[in-house]
Amino acid sequence: MKILLFGKNGQVGWELQRSLAPLGELIALDHDGAPGLSGNFADPESLAATVRTVAPDLIVNAAAHTAVDKAESEPDFARALNALAPGVLAREAAALGALLVHYSTDYVFDGSGETPRDEAAPTGPLSVYGRTKLEGEDLIRRSGARHLIFRTSWVYAARGGNFAKTMLKLAAERDRLTIINDQHGAPTGADLLADVTAHAARMALADAALAGTYHLVAGGETTWYDYARHVIEFARTQGRPVKVAPEAILPVPTSAFPTPAARPANSRLDTRKLRQAFGLSLPAWQQGVDRMLTEIL
Ligand SMILES: NC(=O)c1ccc[n+]([C@@H]2O[C@H](COP(=O)([O-])OP(=O)(O)OC[C@H]3O[C@@H](n4cnc5c(N)ncnc54)[C@H](OP(=O)(O)O)[C@@H]3O)[C@@H](O)[C@H]2O)c1
Repeated sequence: MKILLFGKNGQVGWELQRSLAPLGELIALDHDGAPGLSGNFADPESLAATVRTVAPDLIVNAAAHTAVDKAESEPDFARALNALAPGVLAREAAALGALLVHYSTDYVFDGSGETPRDEAAPTGPLSVYGRTKLEGEDLIRRSGARHLIFRTSWVYAARGGNFAKTMLKLAAERDRLTIINDQHGAPTGADLLADVTAHAARMALADAALAGTYHLVAGGETTWYDYARHVIEFARTQGRPVKVAPEAILPVPTSAFPTPAARPANSRLDTRKLRQAFGLSLPAWQQGVDRMLTEIL
């Protein structure tokens, strides 16, 4: 089997290089591509030739415009990366009969309410990022390509920067921290996303009825505030440098940190459909975060 992976050096793309490797011959590209192969999502049509040349059985797209605030001031660029390029991949996947795996986001929702949303819940993005990601989903669904779209949230990886690393640094330097406590979601490891992708793609290649849109996040839920406290207390118990006292970590509302892009307050995603379709269980978010912390500390 031939697999074509885009966005190989992102958080999820990096882990996919590992998890997809045992499934077949893996051709993995970043935005610079490879000789004769474009991986540049800013030029969506250039991706068509790449797909035709490689003729993969499976296309996995981990590339995206993920700078949520920056997207507000460059909507056309965000749309090229998040909507038009995935649309071209879907068109080419349909022509080839390949399976396309793509990632989307809780930001396609408006964040109202307090319960987890399932895949059929009405969308209502609050930002350019959310709108362009939703358009990408729609283009894939309308293309007729066999596809898996995984909506996820609050992605972290051991490699590169992440929220936990920022909190560890601030906790070592400051004696007071204020953290947003009115956004709810589940921190989800890029390694979990990659492992589930390999498993689900293998099953969906064998059973076309499994194609569709799925919510894929770690188990449980938290807020940025409780997530930060978890990370900082983990570091404290490991004897790492922590200056801030537990009572000096203070919860604040989202309005305390104004940003160009609005974030959904309720990012809870119901994963029942995925767990049932693929026979998987999704570990509690703390399990993956503790593992990542053990790796980086
Ligand atoms: N991060 C989150 O919290 C989160 C939450 C929900 C959903 N998601 C979705 O999950 C997927 C993976 O996200 P991630 O966290 O792994 O993102 P990431 O670490 O930001 O990686 C995005 C990748 O896209 C690539 N890229 C950027 N511009 C490109 C271009 N013009 N052409 C080709 N590639 C380009 C980047 O390559 P360079 O760095 O080399 O430019 C990078 O490898 C995305 O679909 C994202 O929307 C992420």
